[in-house]
Amino acid sequence: MSSSATTTGRFPQDFLFGSATAAYQVEGAWNEDGKGESIWDRMLHEHPDYVRDRQNGDVSANSYHLYKDDVKALKELGAHFYRFSIAWTRIMPTGEAHKINQPGIDYYNNLINELLANGIQPMVTMYHWDLPQWLQDLGGWTNPIMVDYFEDYARFLFERYGDRVKWWFTFNEPSVFAAGYATERQMAPSLNKPGVGDYLASHHVLIAHARAYHLYDKHYRPTQQGKVSIALMSNWYEPRSDSTEDIAASDRAMQFSIGLYAHPIFSSAGDYPAIVRELVDKNSKAEGRPRSRLPVFSKDMIEYIKGTSDFYSLNYYTCRLVSPGITKHDPALRPDAEVSSHADPSWPTTASEWIKVVPWGLRKAINWVHKQYNGPTIVITENGVPDNGKLEDLSRISYYRVHLAEVLKSIHEDGCNVKGFTTWSLLDNFEWNSGYTEKFGLYFVDYSDPARTRKAKASVQFLKQIIRTRELPEETQKP
Ligand code: NOJ
Repeated sequence: MSSSATTTGRFPQDFLFGSATAAYQVEGAWNEDGKGESIWDRMLHEHPDYVRDRQNGDVSANSYHLYKDDVKALKELGAHFYRFSIAWTRIMPTGEAHKINQPGIDYYNNLINELLANGIQPMVTMYHWDLPQWLQDLGGWTNPIMVDYFEDYARFLFERYGDRVKWWFTFNEPSVFAAGYATERQMAPSLNKPGVGDYLASHHVLIAHARAYHLYDKHYRPTQQGKVSIALMSNWYEPRSDSTEDIAASDRAMQFSIGLYAHPIFSSAGDYPAIVRELVDKNSKAEGRPRSRLPVFSKDMIEYIKGTSDFYSLNYYTCRLVSPGITKHDPALRPDAEVSSHADPSWPTTASEWIKVVPWGLRKAINWVHKQYNGPTIVITENGVPDNGKLEDLSRISYYRVHLAEVLKSIHEDGCNVKGFTTWSLLDNFEWNSGYTEKFGLYFVDYSDPARTRKAKASVQFLKQIIRTRELPEETQKP
C-alpha cells in the first residue's frame, strides 16, 4: 500500500470515531440490584456447553461497577462517541413497562452523564440480543405482541435518556439474533425452527423497529433532535468468479443477509427484496405449505416501514466467496438463498475461525449499500478482530490500517457518504459462543483478577493518533 495521505486523503472534519460494547458482553452483575433474567442468562446457565470455554456473562468485564474505568479508556483513546447497549432487564426486569427498576435506570444515567462530562457522545443500542426471559416465555420475537412491548421500552428510553442521547439504534444485527429462532446451541433462545422461526422473528423485529422510529419522529424528535437507526451485519459476499451464475449467487447472498432487513427500510420500493420473496414463496409451495414461510407485509405496513432510519449503520468483519448451491450449515445464508459460500484459503487468518482479513470487502459492502439504497449516510458501527491475548496487538493494528484505508477510498474515490467508524470492541469481553477465548478489545481485561483491571493494547496509541490527525500513518511507521 502506498502513502495513505496521497492516495486516500484524510478523514473529513465531521467524521466521528468511537468504540463499542454490548450489555451482556461487558456489564456482568447479571442479577444485581433488581436486574431480571434475560434469554442469554437462562440459556447459558442451563447449557454451559454451548460456549467454548463454558463461561458466561455473569461477571464479565464488570462494567456495571467499573463504567468509570471504561469512560477513562475512551477518553484516553480520544473517542468522539461510545456505542453501548442497554440491558432491557436492568430497566424492566420482566420486560413490562409498569415494573421498572430504579437502580438499573440510575446505572445508565450515570454512564451517560460520565460520558458527557468527558466530552464523549453516547450512542445507544436498545436491543443487543438480551431479551427478557419473561417475554421469551410468551414466544419472544415470534409473537407479534413483542412490537407493543418494544415500543413501551423505546418510549421509556426516549423519555428518560433522550434529553442527552442523540444517537439511537433500535436493534443490533437482526440477521444474527434471528438465527436464535432457527438453530440450536448458538444464539439465544436456541430454538430449532429453521426457515420459519427466523423469518417470523425478523418480520416482527422490522415492525418493532418502525414503531420505535415513528414514535421518536412524532413525539421526541421535535424537541430532542436526535437520530434513529438499526445496526445491520453487512459482510460482503464476493462472487467466486465473474460468471453470471456466481454474480447472481452473490446478489442472492447479499439480499438474504442484508436486503431482508435493509430493503424494507432503505429502498425506495420498500418490502422484502423481490428475490427473497420469490425464492421463499417457491420453496414453501414446493414443501406443500398453505402459505409462505416468509410473512407478508400489508401495503400499509410496507409504507409504514419504508424510510424509518436516519442513516445506515454498517457492521463489517469479513467476506465470503459465493457460488450457486445449497448449504444447510450456514444460518446466515439459508438454503432458500441457494448459495454455497467459503473463505478463500489465501486470505489472512485471524484468532477467530470465521474472520479472514478482507479489507476490500468493506469497500465493496459500503458501495453496495450506497448504490442499492440511494446513497444514504453510512456509519460503520462495528469493525474489529480478536487477538491472542498479547498487549502488542500488531495484528489488530494492521487490520485497522487496511480497513480504514478502504473507508478512505470509499469516501474520496467512490463518493460514498461515510460519516463514522466504530471499533469493536473497547474491551476484551464475552464473545458469545466463543466465551472469553476471542479477545476483541483495544483494552486488555485481566480475567484472572477479580478487579478486572484494564490495560491499553498497542492499538490504542495507533488509533488515538489517527483520531487526532485524521490521517492514516505511513506504513513504514509500523511499531
Ligand atoms: C457483532 C456483534 O454485534 C457483537 O456482539 C460481536 O461481539 C461481534 N460481532 C464480534 O463477533
